[in-house]
Amino acid sequence: MIKKNDVLTEYVVDIGSNGEGIVKKDGLVIFLPFALIGEKVTFKVLKVNSKIAYGKLLEVISPSQERVNAICPVFTKCGGCSVQHLNYDSQLKFKKDNVVNCFNKIAGLKVGVDQCVCSDNQFRYRNKLQLPVSFNGERTIIGFYAENSHRVVEIKDCPINKEYTKTIIEIFNNFILENSFKGYSEITNSGDIREITVKEISGNLIITVVWIRQQEKGIKGLINALKLAFGDNFSLFYNENNKNTNVIYGEKFFLKHGLSEYTATRLGIKYSSGVLSFMQVNDNVCDKLYSYVVEQVKGFAPDTVIDAYSGAGLMTALLSKTAKKAIGIEIVKEATACADLLAKNNGLQDKMFNLTGACEDLIPSVINKEKEMGNKVAIVLNPPRKGCDVNVINAILKSDIDKIVYVSCMPSTLARDVGLLLGSLKQVDGKIEKVDNYIPKYSINSIKTFDMFPQTKHVETVVVLEKN
Ligand SMILES: C[S@@+](CC[C@H](N)C(=O)[O-])C[C@H]1O[C@@H](n2cnc3c(N)ncnc32)[C@H](O)[C@@H]1O
Repeated sequence: MIKKNDVLTEYVVDIGSNGEGIVKKDGLVIFLPFALIGEKVTFKVLKVNSKIAYGKLLEVISPSQERVNAICPVFTKCGGCSVQHLNYDSQLKFKKDNVVNCFNKIAGLKVGVDQCVCSDNQFRYRNKLQLPVSFNGERTIIGFYAENSHRVVEIKDCPINKEYTKTIIEIFNNFILENSFKGYSEITNSGDIREITVKEISGNLIITVVWIRQQEKGIKGLINALKLAFGDNFSLFYNENNKNTNVIYGEKFFLKHGLSEYTATRLGIKYSSGVLSFMQVNDNVCDKLYSYVVEQVKGFAPDTVIDAYSGAGLMTALLSKTAKKAIGIEIVKEATACADLLAKNNGLQDKMFNLTGACEDLIPSVINKEKEMGNKVAIVLNPPRKGCDVNVINAILKSDIDKIVYVSCMPSTLARDVGLLLGSLKQVDGKIEKVDNYIPKYSINSIKTFDMFPQTKHVETVVVLEKN
């Protein structure tokens, strides 16, 4: 019987949804991060449950041809890139297969998924950087969280984030040292600085320092150092958050330098984005994804497109060109304000309407109104990772909307929601159950994956559904 601390040598037979290798032995499925299919590996058993176990890779005895050398010095320690050791073509295949498996396992749906659309840049692609700042008992460090933990792994740079990452870390390490600031301790909910975030909009950086309580000490030196590095192309916010939660930002933002928003042009649309508005993290793949979504809706020629979970409105604007009007629904007020400005700056005020509120509250009445007017309606759904609220799914089912384009960065919740829309799943007393015999209300027209997040396990997926 396999026990904790056993050291075993076995072959890896499969890959799991997090990109980890899978070894099967003595009725156990053993998850082995950073091992690849076909490899003979030696590993130590860390934990054993009744049917599954977890191991730590000690040695790769016969490496797979798919294995490449990871370029990041903290690869395997930081929780960011779980598949940097896999060559890029194999990463694309893994992501596509992962979506197929999720649909099968979660929704009981056997689906075909198109080849994953690649990212032109496999490194240095991210436009959003989030660096937790922590006091490790001895000193303050800036880094990323280790996998499934809130332990910060110190970093000096990050190869999937842009080149400015190294400079930002250097500047803030100096700022912290020169002013004797302390990083955050979750255990005691104490310290000075919790997080540093950077959002890049077309070469301009919105830098935010999240404090327990903001301090003015050293701010002139900080702004000077940032000016020396980035000229006029940055703004600096201070934010206060003294709550012991996972939420990064507190309610209050204080602009210390530069503009509160930056404007850029993408796919022919002038848009602006501030610190809170959601932006897809990979500009190149975002363009490919949006163009594909627009193409799907355009072919249907709707009167109205509802853009649910619309962020700062860029996709709503693009969608408004495929229909008589587009209605964006977004919960963050700042994002809707950006979307309104975008409509104005692009002369789309008569075609693009932005509503602030929760989709679960607004969608039922928005759909009803459009249907009552006799409009042919398409809906684009792009919820956060947790997927759509059940009220949104029910409103769509009730309304018989003809075309749904569902964009998701989380294959498991996507599969669940598509299962609910098709009828292979149903919700009973808040629990999801499989349905054996059902007449599908919608057909899956296509499923396409986009590699928004190279080197990581994550993938963006677009499912196009049509009413039967
Ligand atoms: C994955 S993002 C998509 C944004 C946009 N479609 C884009 O491509 O930039 C999800 C968005 O949903 C918003 N959101 C989260 N929960 C929501 C809700 N219940 N109702 C409406 N919007 C919500 C978030 O603020 C975020 O802007």
